[in-house]
This record gives sequence, C-alpha cells and structure tokens, in this order.
Amino acid sequence: MSDLNQIIINVKKEINLINNIKELNIFKVKYLGKKGYISSQFLLLKKLTKQEKIENSTIINNIKKQIKTLIKQHKNKLESNNIKFQVLNKKIDITLPGRYFKMGSQHPITMVIYDIENFFIKLGFKITESQEIEDVYHNFDALNISENHPSRTEQDTFWLNKKNLLRTQTSNMQIRMMKILNPPIRILTSGKVYRNDYDNRHTPMFHQIEGLLIDNNINFLELKAILSLFLKYFFDEKLKIRFRPSYFPFTEPSLEVDIMGTNNKWIEVLGAGMVHPNVLGNININLLNYSGCAFGIGVERLAMLRYNINDIRLFFENDIRFLKQFK
Ligand code: PHE
Repeated sequence: MSDLNQIIINVKKEINLINNIKELNIFKVKYLGKKGYISSQFLLLKKLTKQEKIENSTIINNIKKQIKTLIKQHKNKLESNNIKFQVLNKKIDITLPGRYFKMGSQHPITMVIYDIENFFIKLGFKITESQEIEDVYHNFDALNISENHPSRTEQDTFWLNKKNLLRTQTSNMQIRMMKILNPPIRILTSGKVYRNDYDNRHTPMFHQIEGLLIDNNINFLELKAILSLFLKYFFDEKLKIRFRPSYFPFTEPSLEVDIMGTNNKWIEVLGAGMVHPNVLGNININLLNYSGCAFGIGVERLAMLRYNINDIRLFFENDIRFLKQFK
C-alpha cells in the first residue's frame, strides 16, 4: 500500500486489457465494490494507531480516487470505439439511388471560338495569344487611329491610366505579331475586348477573333474568298452574304460583311480589309514585297445568330438553365 505508484501502474495495466463494458464492471467491483480491494485496505486500518490510520486512509482515498478516474476514462474510450465499430460495420443499402455529380460543360462562347479556330487551322492559320491590358501605341497609334478619334475617349474605352487601357479590339495582336514574326504571316487570335457599352446587344466585355495574313501576293479577292468560305462553313452553304464598303483606320480598302437573318434583314457580322500601308510602315514591313489583309469577327454576334439568342447578356449571367442547353 505504501507504494502508491506501483499500485496505480498495475491497475492501469489491468484496465488496458479490458475491451468491453461487462469486464469493466467486474473490474470495478473488484477494486471499488463492498468486498473489493479498497474496502479490504480500509479494514486493515483497524489494527493501526490513530495517527497511522489518518495517514493511511488519506493514501487509500487517493488511490480510490485515481482508480475511479481510470475507470471513467476507460469507459469513455470503450464507448467511442463501439460507435466507430458500429459505423464501420453499418449495413449499406445498395438499392438506394446514388448521388450524381453535376457535369460541367463548355461555355457556348468557348464552343464557338473552338469551332471558328478549327476552320482557320485548316486554311493554315496558326493560333496565337495576345494581351488584354494594352498600351495606347498598340491599341490605337500603331493602328493608324488618329489622336482625336472618338473611340479613344473615356465614354468608349476603359483607361487604366494615361498610357494603358483594356484593349478595345483584338487588332492589337496585328501589331504585336508583326513586330516579332517575319512574313509570310498567317495567324489567328481570339480573346476578350472591352468597351464602355451596355444593352441587349452590347456588354462591356465581349469576344473577338482576329485574323492576319501577310504575304507576297495577298489581295482583296483572297480576303473575300476566305470570309465567305468561313461564313458558309459556320452557318450554312446557302447563306446569303453581302460585302459592304466600310472604314477602319488600319485597313484600306475596308469592308463589312452582312448576312441575311431569318427575319430577312441584313445583319453585320464582321469587319475586314487590306492592311493599311501606314500600319505596315509602322512595323517596317517592306511595302514593295508584301501586302496583307485582316479581319475581326464578333464572337457573341455569331453565337447569337447560330443559336437564335436575342440578348447578349445571357452569355454572362451564368444562369444554369441557359448554359445547360449547349451541352
Ligand atoms: N477591329 C475592328 C473592330 O473592332 C474589326 C477589324 C479587324 C476591322 C481587322 C478590320 C480589320 O471593329
């Protein structure tokens, strides 16, 4: 009894071997019951002096307290193990319906871009990337857009500071690519462009696809052929197409292409033209050897016509009921 620690160590060893509540109850009776270990120790005190009784009873009470705590702890442990056991061995009802994962799919704009790219890849165009944050030089100056052109104003363009802006057109790619590639050049880029506009036909961000062709003998006929082949591929062999003279500072001559909608009205779908000599000159491309053409396609416009959508904002509201239809 004097060796308190030894007793507790033995009790611990013994209790750790117990793995069910029934055995734990037997153990409890053995130590704390009426005829158990602790009671028997108290009985032994009778023979001792008063002083010894006091000292020893304190020790016995201390041991009793510790055994009680150990039993309580072990009980908790056995109970939580029991819950784990139940969970692990739970019966699974294999007839219950499973939980389905919701599958995502490509956004209709992405689908249209990939489709357009596939067509131009077959004509030998290489796909390139270009940047959305641009400087005045690549978005306006190098494209022959005069300093007082209205598109440069704050009503039209999102300026980041005096020199930088969110590009208003993918034509910035023409300049960036002509600077690093040597002709012949045949490239296509797609991406987001930004303009300060908002209604059912305009959102502040939309997508364009830009094509650029520079070679020895590029002429207007070639441009027209590429564009009509493309539109017939994208819509329908029998599609009615109209080429209309237009103006862009960076192409000369310039044209716009309209297609006949289901409502028998002409709808503009893209702008194009022969790259302006000033633009080629800005990049030091030899005008005697090379000429080029470029085109810019409004992706949302084409997608709206193909899928019969009447509000461009639907593309960006992320309503799952709308997006689900394009799987
Ligand atoms: N960048 C023009 C626009 O945004 C489209 C265009 C591209 C026109 C290339 C001619 C050549 O309207």
